[in-house]
Amino acid sequence: MFVSSQMMPLFAVPVWAQVLEPDVAESLNENLLEQVEILGRDVPDKEDGWQTRNDLHTLDEFGQMVEIIGAASKRVLEMLKVAPAPFEITGSWMNIKPRGVGHPLHSHQNNYLSGVYYVKAPEGADSISFHDTRTERRIILPRLLEETPLTARTMHIPVKTGILIMFPSWLQHTVKENPSEETRVSLAFNIMFSDFTKTMSIPEWDWLDTAAGDAD
Ligand SMILES: [Fe+2]
Repeated sequence: MFVSSQMMPLFAVPVWAQVLEPDVAESLNENLLEQVEILGRDVPDKEDGWQTRNDLHTLDEFGQMVEIIGAASKRVLEMLKVAPAPFEITGSWMNIKPRGVGHPLHSHQNNYLSGVYYVKAPEGADSISFHDTRTERRIILPRLLEETPLTARTMHIPVKTGILIMFPSWLQHTVKENPSEETRVSLAFNIMFSDFTKTMSIPEWDWLDTAAGDAD
């Protein structure tokens, strides 16, 4: 009947997963867990989970992590075909989540990319959930034989120790409660273009051309 049947997934939301080489991850994780120990010394109550200071990228002890985030971000921007532009980490912090602790719905405002590196992702606490913000899609919800990225409202992405997940900062996400006796440890970060106001947010059209009626 048809010569062809094609589906074109338009306006896809990208989420990236990059896995570190095992030996790199092993020494990095050892160092990061040591830093958690040091940074947590003055934290009084850790039962409900806690977060470190949010400028870890400024500390020498996190130099290797900064390098890895930089390389991962560069790859992501290349995959998006973004024209080369300087970018920087604007915030980075570690999340320490013991048994029973998750993370409520949120996004990371005022940044272009965000990410999370998993230092310890115990069994059962090894996923991150992303939520479709296009509420219009919920008007008609037919029964599905199978939920796929095209129809799902929430996608649970499996993670593991040593993996770095990145996503657009506006994409809402949650973390399920940790069912494990083991604590879940991750390092989150935000990325923004360094010269955003100087090079990107100014109008791309020339007002002189517009005034002369040459542009629309
Ligand atoms: Fe987050």
